[in-house]
Amino acid sequence: MTSGLRKGLTSYGDPGFSLFLRKILIKSMGYSDDSLERPIVGITNTFSDFNPCHGNVPAMIDAIQRGVMLEGALPMVFPTISLGEPFCHPTAMFLRNLMSMDTEEMIRAQPMDAVVVVGGCDKTLPAQVMAAVSVDLPTIVLPVGPMLVGHHKGDAVGACTDCRRFWAEHRAGRIDTAEMGQITGRLAPSVGTCGVMGTAGTMACLIEALGLSLPMSASVPSSHADRLRIAEATGRRAAGIAASCGPRPSELITEASVRNAMTVLQAIGGSTNGLIHLVAMAGRGGVCVDLKTFDELGRRVPVLLNIKPSGAHYMEDFHYAGGMPALLRELAPHLDLTTPVIGGGTIRDVIETAEQIPTQDVIRTLAAPHSAQGAMAVLFGNLAPDGAVIKQSAASPALMKHTGRAVVFDSIEDLTKRIDDPSLDVLAEDVLVLRNAGPKGAPGMPEAGYLPIPVNLAQQGVKDMVRISDARMSGTAFGTIVLHVAPESAVGGPLAIVQTGDRIALDVEGRRIQLLVDEAEIQSRLAAWKASPPRREKPVRGYARLFQDSVLQANQGCDFDFLLREGPDSRS
Ligand code: FES
Repeated sequence: MTSGLRKGLTSYGDPGFSLFLRKILIKSMGYSDDSLERPIVGITNTFSDFNPCHGNVPAMIDAIQRGVMLEGALPMVFPTISLGEPFCHPTAMFLRNLMSMDTEEMIRAQPMDAVVVVGGCDKTLPAQVMAAVSVDLPTIVLPVGPMLVGHHKGDAVGACTDCRRFWAEHRAGRIDTAEMGQITGRLAPSVGTCGVMGTAGTMACLIEALGLSLPMSASVPSSHADRLRIAEATGRRAAGIAASCGPRPSELITEASVRNAMTVLQAIGGSTNGLIHLVAMAGRGGVCVDLKTFDELGRRVPVLLNIKPSGAHYMEDFHYAGGMPALLRELAPHLDLTTPVIGGGTIRDVIETAEQIPTQDVIRTLAAPHSAQGAMAVLFGNLAPDGAVIKQSAASPALMKHTGRAVVFDSIEDLTKRIDDPSLDVLAEDVLVLRNAGPKGAPGMPEAGYLPIPVNLAQQGVKDMVRISDARMSGTAFGTIVLHVAPESAVGGPLAIVQTGDRIALDVEGRRIQLLVDEAEIQSRLAAWKASPPRREKPVRGYARLFQDSVLQANQGCDFDFLLREGPDSRS
């Protein structure tokens, strides 16, 4: 089998000439013949001025390169798309599949024997793993790590759960503009990913549980010296998997490891986005994430982590409490301990390295969990035939069984226009409904599911209401919020025919979300919608057109239909 510089030669019709030309040009950068004979480890560079979460990537790349060279291989850094969550319009989720395609094709196209993918900000790690699973080259994942904890008026604070809390207080008139200005400099005191169990933290934990990264990779703070030591160790291990041609992602992403990841997602109080991304990552390997199985796990697996938004602490605290190895040790009765990990050995071996920190209150035990049930419940009913999800660990217990009058917003624009209108007819016990915010409807399924509490209610002290949409919400958000309603309204899902004034019943314990309208009336409204669907502008060209034509629903991971593995890739 060819390796190193000889891999994947450019097609000139003369392989000898292709290698000759490749050597001429690479030598212009000063490489010796000796270095060019070594196994090659590719390293993705996702540094971008538009992605502050990845601000430590240059230093990490230096450390990875050092590790690769200590093992006698040749590191080669190459750029890919980088997605900074708050800097992408309309939403980074719209671009996740583009990043996965870019990463996949650049790994395929360039000569490397193994690859280190360095990512962190919400959509980057899932995009990179989706790519890695599709290529199936030996891959090791290195998260950039969470940012440090901030402080304001004596309290620990962190992006972005506290960003939302402060913003809600500001909207309600309890924090003035001057203090908000001060707060902007305190919520994100270092580069790195959000400091709570948002989507970035969730994905880093799931990836460690899947065995794709080295132990403790998910939690070492971005600016801690250990982050660079893990980067160096990752580089060393990458050289090892390049030499041994494995393990490959297909050996790590299996039914058993994906079930472990589902269990971890429930136990960490993980982001609802984590479920969509797990479906997509596993789907690339032909492994199905069954939503009902995920829900059943949630009835048995409690939330063990006391981290915001479900708990009180931060990712940095999780690290000092022992990180993922310690969490896996507590969760062991619910895990398959025989699944292999990229560092060698199995999850059982990782657990054996876990530190015991006697006084910590971040990683709870099965006997004394943070919440009795898992983070998420999957709901079905006539409003969500293909499922919807609620993060019950961050919802209000008083609203978990609730019936109320629907107040419907037809789009994100409609929501923006009317939510704070003083004449809006809305009460605290109503159910706010947002539609046309799903994968095709918005498009890109933005994080608009965290509908703001109407300002007149917020000023009266209302902090939570039942909210339902086909959108997503940030993993850092909280509230009694039903998300990912599938099928979405833009393709004729039942959310499309809800009218203001209809009654909606939410029953989290019963896993039901029902529109309390006569079945004949529902069918008549759906038929009318189908006969004359609302006119929607369809993009005529480019990536937006590809997205609109190809994106799958939330319960299918929002991947593109043509990227799922249905048979061997014709090029592999
Ligand atoms: Fe990048 Fe939160 S904005 S991880």
